[in-house]
Amino acid sequence: MSKTYKIAVLVGSLRKDSYNRKVALELAKLAPASLQLEIVEIGDLPFYNEDLDNGTPPQAWQTFRNNIKNADGVLFLTPEYNRSVPAALKNALDVASRPYGQSAWDGKPAAVISVSIGAIGGFGANHHLRQSLVFLNTPCMAQPETYIGNIGSAFDDSGKLNERTAQFLQTIINEYSKWVEKILA
Ligand code: FNR
Repeated sequence: MSKTYKIAVLVGSLRKDSYNRKVALELAKLAPASLQLEIVEIGDLPFYNEDLDNGTPPQAWQTFRNNIKNADGVLFLTPEYNRSVPAALKNALDVASRPYGQSAWDGKPAAVISVSIGAIGGFGANHHLRQSLVFLNTPCMAQPETYIGNIGSAFDDSGKLNERTAQFLQTIINEYSKWVEKILA
């Protein structure tokens, strides 16, 4: 029987009606049987402070670090805030990168999807995030690149995603599945 990989999904937006979260949920529905997607929440993580790692780190950090360590791969969905990554997502990266030498991100096959109401599709955030992933030794799928712009018009009033975007997401998640299998083979 073929293996099912556990994928931690990180959503960079904390708002209830986040488009990034909606796209994450669509991806979870479209994912092939080889992937099991689960959102790992990042909104309650205290800001990273190295002093706290020299004592007893906050429980929320420890739980988060374990969730990432227990995942086979990581899928990032991020809005763009001021041409970069939202602070909550950068904080999550920092938290699970420490204590020094115990990074939870090391070697996890990743993909970055940026989702924006704007036309550029979060290009700046997407590439700032990739920059951190290079340092964290988190092999990130290079192609297809995924910048989803004008997301406000992709869902209808009933919350249904249009066919064109759904097909694009299907391609992305299928390619990511291949990427996970390739990296973890
Ligand atoms: C934004 N937004 C935004 N959009 C963009 O394309 N480029 C940008 O640099 C910014 N900057 C920015 C800063 C801040 C502080 C906010 C709150 C918003 C708009 C952003 O893409 C939009 O709010 C998305 O809908 C956010 O994603 P969620 O929350 O819908 O997932």
